[in-house]
Formats: sequence, C-alpha cells, structure tokens
Amino acid sequence: MLPEGAERLLLDWFREHRRALPWREDRSFYTVLVSELMLQQTRVEAVKERYTLFLQKFPTPEALAAAEEDEVLKEWEGLGYYSRARNLHAAAKVIAEEGLPTTFEGVRALPGVGDYTAGAICSIALGLREPAVDGNVLRILTRLTGDHRCVDGNGAREYFKEALRADYPPETGEFTEALMELGAIVCLPNGAPLCEICPWNTLCRAHSEGRELEFPVRAPKRERKVVEAAVYVYRRENRYGIVRRGEGLLAGLYGFPMKEGGTMPASGVLEIKRAKHIFTHVEWHMTGYLIETEEEDAGGLKLIWATAEEIKEQYAIPSAFKAFLGWLRP
Ligand code: ADE
Repeated sequence: MLPEGAERLLLDWFREHRRALPWREDRSFYTVLVSELMLQQTRVEAVKERYTLFLQKFPTPEALAAAEEDEVLKEWEGLGYYSRARNLHAAAKVIAEEGLPTTFEGVRALPGVGDYTAGAICSIALGLREPAVDGNVLRILTRLTGDHRCVDGNGAREYFKEALRADYPPETGEFTEALMELGAIVCLPNGAPLCEICPWNTLCRAHSEGRELEFPVRAPKRERKVVEAAVYVYRRENRYGIVRRGEGLLAGLYGFPMKEGGTMPASGVLEIKRAKHIFTHVEWHMTGYLIETEEEDAGGLKLIWATAEEIKEQYAIPSAFKAFLGWLRP
C-alpha cells in the first residue's frame, strides 16, 4: 500500500527529528506497557511528568504487582481515567505470575490492552510486525494514499492494519513510533498539516492534488433531535396499559403510550420518573406519569391490559421504556 521508498523516508526523518521523550530511552516490555497505557487518551506533556516518577516508584512488574492499589492510584494522579491504573496494576500481577507474553494474543489479553495498544507494544517491545492504527495513523495514511474510505467504524482500521503489515520494515518499533510522530507533529488534523517539512511531501497523493483537508473522510455528524415526551403508565387494578407501537421509531414493539411534546396536567396523576433514551438521530427526554384509572379505554387509547409479569415476560418492551418497568407492581 505504501508508495515505493516511503518506509525509508519516514525512518530517516524520524531518526533526525523525533522528540526526546523519556519512554523512548528504554524499550523493554514493562516500560513500554507503562508508557502506552499512560498515553491512552492523554497528552504527551502530561505523561512526561508522571512516567519517570511512576517507574522510580515501581521499577519492575513485580514491584508494581506487590503494591497496594491506593499507592498505584496515587502515582497515577493527574493522568485521569483511573481504570487504566487499575488495569496496569492487574497486568503487572499477570506478568509477575506468568512471565512476559511473547505473542500478539498474549499481549492483547492483558487487562487494559486493546488492539491499538497491543500493536504498539508488540512492535516496539517485541519486534513483531504488528501495526498500531489509531485516528492519527488513519489520517496520515488516507492522505498519503488519497484514500476516500470512511474512517469511522472498524473497517478502515482493519484494512490499513493489514495493508500496513505487509509493508512493515524490520525496524518495527521505530516505524510504529515514526508513524505516530508524523501524525503528532507534522500531518496535523483540523486544517493545519505542515506539508513543507513532511518527509512524504513528494509521495503524498493528497498533497500533490492540494486536497490534504479532504482526508480523512468521516461520516457526517448529524445533530440529534431532542424530543420531550410524556409517557403514560396507566394502571387499572393490577394491570397496566400498553400499546403496540405504530409507524416510526420502535414500530411493532410494545411500550407505554407516549405523547411527543407532551407534559401532563396535574390532577390525579403522579410523576414517577424522568428518563432519557438516545437513538442514533433522536434523543427522547421522557417524563413518566402513573395514572390510576377504571376505564378500559383510558385516554381514548386502545390499550392492552397486562400484569407486570406478563409485560416483562411476554411483550417485547424496548429498552427505551425499561426505566419505567421498575414502577410496575405485581
Ligand atoms: N501515543 C501513543 N503511544 C505513543 C508513543 N509511543 N509515542 C508517542 N506518542 C504516543
């Protein structure tokens, strides 16, 4: 997939221009694991401050495994997303017990390690041809090759991972980091790629056509419409009134009668719960009302009267209405 000579150009550029980052000094498995988990969703600048201190405190997987969780969380302070610290702690325990993994599957199975992080660790610490493809890498590759496939969803990621694997040079770790580095300091998102200093500027399809900003192609973000709705939970003795939904969202499924835009006038009516449900293009902001009634056709609606148990067991009630099921009594 890469144009002829692209790997060499990138590696040569990286060797000359890479930023001096503390985790680039020591490429052992444990230090790579620590740095990659810290770098998930976190700025390089923030990680720089914590990485060295963390390793001073926990220099080996055994030292980390033996620590109390509170100590680990303390050393993670300021980095946020604390589940990563718990995952790292758990991963250190796995390693202390079972030894270091040596395959992609073994690395991927460690707590907190997804496809991207597994690719980074395998290529950087183990010398395996396992690309790490994230949004930055997708941006530089779609620009380089002028590829218009949409990068949202897993399809493009899988495609580029496989295509890149075939082109990986023996310097797997440097190449992974070089791709990251190009995305981080040259091939910038949001209208600001620094093509004049890019090692790929003679190869780049998007650049040669002056169309850098058309890539990566993303699915249009549609605003979700917010719909306020009243949800009526009618009760008649021990039965509740449900309706089979007609056209529109959740058609053919059962639910409580609902009125878009509606709120309920007060008397005899109990507001029971507010709930939100998010569809792809619409958000329902619902207010549920419990209404005691003696009429079979309450509210002029064609209601199916069913007990709480029947409703839960026999009708397909979509999760949008599940919030109200807790209010049904046997
Ligand atoms: N982001 C994720 N992993 C990284 C790494 N190894 N170097 C720089 N930025 C990164």
